[in-house]
Amino acid sequence: MKDSMRMIKWNSNHLTGIKEMDDQHKELITTVNELVQYCTPGSNDMGAYILKIIQASSGFVRQHFADEEHLMEEAGYPDLEEHRLRHGGFIRVISALEREFENGSGSVSPELACFLSAWLIGHIKNTDRKYADYILSKNMPHMA
Ligand SMILES: [Fe+2]
Ligand SMILES: [Fe+2]
Repeated sequence: MKDSMRMIKWNSNHLTGIKEMDDQHKELITTVNELVQYCTPGSNDMGAYILKIIQASSGFVRQHFADEEHLMEEAGYPDLEEHRLRHGGFIRVISALEREFENGSGSVSPELACFLSAWLIGHIKNTDRKYADYILSKNMPHMA
């Protein structure tokens, strides 16, 4: 680990209060931390390696987003469409990256590794917190 100061440790700021989602987020943070290692301007472009991380996690990320959307739908969350758009935007970036690598033209810069890791952590701490607060405030304990 080159830059251990940047490692994100799971803490209460990341908790939504919905156990199943918190468990999935813990796993996502493992991926984030793998990306974060390359999030240093000027560090070597480890594109091929980062792609492996992305490919390994993209199935999990897609499933996580689908699970969240299902939960929000069940709860009647009013901002579901906005949340869905954010998920979709992230998946488009990942998919484009995968396609570029398949064509042999892909690379992942430190800036992109920074963007992907920061996006995921920011999404967990801000956007996901909103639907979780809604579900918890509506007192739907069967979902929490
Ligand atoms: Fe999430
Ligand atoms: Fe989300």
